[in-house]
Amino acid sequence: MTKKICVLPGDGIGPEITAQAVRVLEALNLGFEMETALIGGAAVDAAGDPYPQATQKLAAEADAVLLGAVGGSKWDSLPREQRPERGLLGIRKHLNLFANLRPAVLYPELANASTLKPEIVAGLDILIVRELTGDIYFGQPRGIENRNDERFGFNTMHYSESEIRRIGRVAFEAAGKRNKKVCSVDKMNVLETMQLWRDVMNELAPEYPDVELSHMLVDNAAMQLVRAPLQFDVMVTGNMFGDILSDEASMLTGSIGMLPSASLDENNKGLYEPSHGSAPDIAGKNLANPLATILSAAMMLRYSFNLEEEAKRVENAVKNVLAQRLRTGDIFESGMTRVGTKQMGDAILAELGK
Ligand code: IPM
Ligand code: MG
Repeated sequence: MTKKICVLPGDGIGPEITAQAVRVLEALNLGFEMETALIGGAAVDAAGDPYPQATQKLAAEADAVLLGAVGGSKWDSLPREQRPERGLLGIRKHLNLFANLRPAVLYPELANASTLKPEIVAGLDILIVRELTGDIYFGQPRGIENRNDERFGFNTMHYSESEIRRIGRVAFEAAGKRNKKVCSVDKMNVLETMQLWRDVMNELAPEYPDVELSHMLVDNAAMQLVRAPLQFDVMVTGNMFGDILSDEASMLTGSIGMLPSASLDENNKGLYEPSHGSAPDIAGKNLANPLATILSAAMMLRYSFNLEEEAKRVENAVKNVLAQRLRTGDIFESGMTRVGTKQMGDAILAELGK
């Protein structure tokens, strides 16, 4: 059966990096049907809406979505509903993409890219499982109002036990296929929502006897990530803490341009995007690193299409071009060969053709 992929290039470097990932998907000759639509600032400019109806329809009908990046200072002064980020939050909620998988892996070839000492990060392989459709990001009530003659801002953190359970299951199942450790990150010493989070994680644990569950408060987790990151296998946490910790974890590898991500619904329909942003400063200059987007396409093959072998082929192609010392500017070191976005794509295609 032909699989449909909705391609959403977005803003900044988005179009350049998704173009390379699309070439990779085409080169695999799996007969994917790909259709492109607008999201983010590009959609605001063209249609006045960061997640227009036409995009919603295409995304809903597709088997998977490949996204570049959204955002840029150009749109920062628009009302909140029209900001590019709203497009991203909108598609996550619309497609019920509650499970965000953000791997932070240190490639041995890039060991020097980290700001941490090599002995602290060598062998790093963490999977952050971030809940993506709940928490304070979506909680009501929210707003800025006038109260007692001053402005008053408020947001609401909440989680139902079913929301916690379903993201917990994703984490336990992922850990079962990895190093069998889940660290659940919360703030139960202060927040009731997080007490429930911890209780539900504890209730789930007996169903996964081969996985070891531990708990950590989020402030300590932030510290442990830079003190001794090798202690972690899978980390599971809520939407807001996951936003922060996943940026921190990505920087352990020193190369955010290398990190893919997947956001999945209950049926493994997914949205795949690089973990980095739209980098408007280098947009259109053939400078961006397309590898995170290409690795996101590999995650798509694995999670949405169950094509493990093809996913590995793409991941190995990435390892091989790194071994050939090809580097885009973000991961460049002296002695390496500097290449542009398109040349990096060419090198991956050449590897796949071997
Ligand atoms: C992310 C981003 C988004 C988030 C923004 C752009 C809305 O930071 O995907 O981590 O906060 O979730
Ligand atoms: Mg973020």
